[in-house]
Amino acid sequence: MSRRLRKAVFPVAGLGTRFLPATKAVPKEMLTVVDRPVIQLAVEEAREAGIEHFVFVTGRNKAVIEDHFDKQFELETTLKTRGKTKELEMLISELPSAGQTSFTRQQEPLGLGHAVWCARELVRDEPFALLLPDMLIHAKPGCLAQMIDAYNSHGGNIIAVEEVPHEDVHRYGVVDVGPVQASGAQKIKGMVEKPKREDAPSNLIISGRYILQPEIFAKLEIQKPGSGGEIQLTDAMLALMTDQEFHALKFKGKTYDCGDKIGFLAANVAYGLARADLGPAFRKALNEILAADKG
Ligand code: G1P
Repeated sequence: MSRRLRKAVFPVAGLGTRFLPATKAVPKEMLTVVDRPVIQLAVEEAREAGIEHFVFVTGRNKAVIEDHFDKQFELETTLKTRGKTKELEMLISELPSAGQTSFTRQQEPLGLGHAVWCARELVRDEPFALLLPDMLIHAKPGCLAQMIDAYNSHGGNIIAVEEVPHEDVHRYGVVDVGPVQASGAQKIKGMVEKPKREDAPSNLIISGRYILQPEIFAKLEIQKPGSGGEIQLTDAMLALMTDQEFHALKFKGKTYDCGDKIGFLAANVAYGLARADLGPAFRKALNEILAADKG
């Protein structure tokens, strides 16, 4: 029987240099897809999957993320006075309960592996989910919920993966897998962080969603810097593979890499079109823009 997953970690310490000047004073995780910050969408995915505690690994200039997941008395009072009940109910229903969030800081940008290691005292001795908020996944049920099904069959460690064109593999972690099993998952035989196209074992990339066992922290503690001179989670997972099983799950859904401008713009279009309240009017506006652009 797999140990129940209660906690999720969100690494949000990155500088967001690709989005300057927008990210001079606003953390990249607070950039919005339609009307929700990217980080909120990741938290919603975790919540929908049954996660009860949300651990954020932040950094300098990220305090607004903490404020975002806090109660805003003044705002709530104003909404109440003005009779804006719908907005008020939405704010309240989307807020994690008291005690459900924890924040710690990655003091230096030493890599994703180091960021995850910074959460060790908050996660302690239990399995946890890890969601990289840059990778926005549009899926129903959500990607993490799909992974939990695989976790309930296999236990151990589960990584969400997807196929990308071979020319893009150098931007990601890449896995080598065995045959598809009854659960839909595949046993992982190897993995490598940001390989050259010719060295990549496949075109199956790590999509920024993980279910990990707490033994990963001991591996991260001694992990030497790898690709890009950073402490890489992929290298520590590879080390843990000698002791524990890892499975890859090709989830059903569409990923938008919001760490990239095109991915971020595409996410806004896709999420806008998918919204019942905005979709029809937005489609019309988009069609007009596209028609004018052709001419
Ligand atoms: C990280 C991981 C990589 C994964 C990617 C997904 O890389 O190290 O394995 O494929 O996220 O976004 P980063 O984007 O932090 O360079």
